[in-house]
Parts: sequence; C-alpha cells; structure tokens
Amino acid sequence: MSAKIISGTEVAKAIREELKTEVTELKEKHDIVPGLVTILVGEDPASQSYVSAKNKTAHALGIHSEQVTLAADTTEQDLLATVEKYNKDKNIHGILVQLPLPKHINETNILYAIDPDKDVDGFHPVNVGKMVLGEECFLPCTPHGILELLTRSGVETSGAEVVIIGRSNIVGKPIANLMLQKRKGGNATITLCHTRTKDMAAHCKRADIIIAAVGVPKMVTADMVKDGVVVIDVGVNRIGKTAEGKAILAGDVDFDAVKEKASYITPVPGGVGPMTITMLMKNTVQAAKQIAGVK
Ligand code: GUN
Repeated sequence: MSAKIISGTEVAKAIREELKTEVTELKEKHDIVPGLVTILVGEDPASQSYVSAKNKTAHALGIHSEQVTLAADTTEQDLLATVEKYNKDKNIHGILVQLPLPKHINETNILYAIDPDKDVDGFHPVNVGKMVLGEECFLPCTPHGILELLTRSGVETSGAEVVIIGRSNIVGKPIANLMLQKRKGGNATITLCHTRTKDMAAHCKRADIIIAAVGVPKMVTADMVKDGVVVIDVGVNRIGKTAEGKAILAGDVDFDAVKEKASYITPVPGGVGPMTITMLMKNTVQAAKQIAGVK
C-alpha cells in the first residue's frame, strides 16, 4: 500500500479562501481590518523565514501586518516595552513573538506580558488554561492545524490509539490535550513519548495515528509503524543546502519508506507548515472580531 498524501498546502488554501471572504466582509460591513504584528529578536534564518511567510500570508488575505525586527542583544525590558506598545495599539489585534528567544530573555516573562485577547499563538497561560478546560480560546496554531488536517481528511480519531512523539509546549503537550477532549478530532487514547521513553518503537507499532514533533530527521522509520497507520510529521529539519544555497528540509519521519505502509501521511515541506500559518491568520481574524464585539 502507498499512503494518501495529506497536502497541507491544499487544505490551507481552502481555509485561506474562507478567511479572505471573512476579511472582506469585516471591512465592508464593520470597517474592521484585522491587524497582526510579528516580533522577531535576532537573525536566526529559520525564524526569519517563518516570520516572513506569516507576514506574506497576512498581506495576501487583506490582513494588516507589521513586522518588528529587533537586534539579538535587545534587552528583556525593551522587548517587554515593544509588547506593551502593541497591547495598546488599536490597529493590532494579534501579537506574535517568534520563538525561540535569545537565551538572555526569559520567554515566560514575555509570553505572560502579551494581552490574552491578542494572544493569537495561544501561548498565554490564560489561553493554555482555557484550552485544557475545553473552553473557547485561541488554540495554538500547529495543534489546531493538525486537527484540521485530520478531520478534513476524514481520519477517525474517536477511540484511536494516538502516539505523540515530543512533549513541547508548542506542539506535544497541547495536541495531546486537544485529542483526548470530547471534541471533533478528539476522543482518542493518547500516549505521549519523549526522550526518556523506554521503547519508542513498541509504542509506535501500536499506534493508529502517529504525530512526530521531535526535531530529529527521519527518526520514525518503517519498521516502527504498523500497516495502515496515519502519520502527521511536524518536523522541519534543515539537513543541508542546495547548490543555490536553499535549505534542504527533512521531517521527523522517513517519508519514502513509511509512506509504503501508511494509509495517510503528511509531507515535509507542504504538510503541517502551511497549516500553522493559516491557523495564525484564523486566530487573528477571530481576535479582531472578539475585540470589536462582532459575532
Ligand atoms: N516557533 C516555532 N513555532 C512557533 C509558533 O507557532 N509561534 C511562535 N511564536 N514561535 C514559534
């Protein structure tokens, strides 16, 4: 069997069309233009490319976007002042501080300083708490994108054995939480594997759905999965450069081998990545509507 490829590019395109219509209507009916600011500290090439893609997408959808780039030696105080400025800015509904931050800045202090009503990443503890409780909130973008990929591809999650590899605050922990809830894309039985897991392959072999978010290229191999497994690959690993200097990317899954056993699989690039950006746009539109009191 060769797997059906879940194209994040295609699913993201469909959601972006829906958002474009929503943004046009917000402007025409309510004179509201959703606004997003991205704040990048330092010159990490991967972060630069993510932030630039976020701004480009916002622009294409008619969302006002501002990009703030701060020097790598910016102080925590200066970054807090920048966040505060945008907390007060009436034209900005969503604030995104690109992670990771340089070591001398305390990430928690920065994430806590973002107004929860503008926290389109869903990283503020108020939104994390609401998410865990199953209340209405901004869902973190990558996990939200994964749920959309699964549900729009018709993958049954109810009662499924889901193995998640990686316990990060951005992907592993929130997707585990969301998929065990009584919700669309939920009701699954969750196993969360991490660096201290004793027999990763044994867990993976039992899984109906594997979500890999570890940052180790091609870690999930064909001998670790059962026939018919659904594989969502969150990894974006830079494993080299082309002659033109373009990054060569690999996921956390050995795509070529695993696709011969899987029923569905996401590619890298073109899988989860475009969905993360799209869900950020969705959250920004949601933030603009909530702040303006539009249903
Ligand atoms: N770094 C990697 N993923 C993300 C994300 O979803 N949001 C932010 N702010 N930083 C990231």
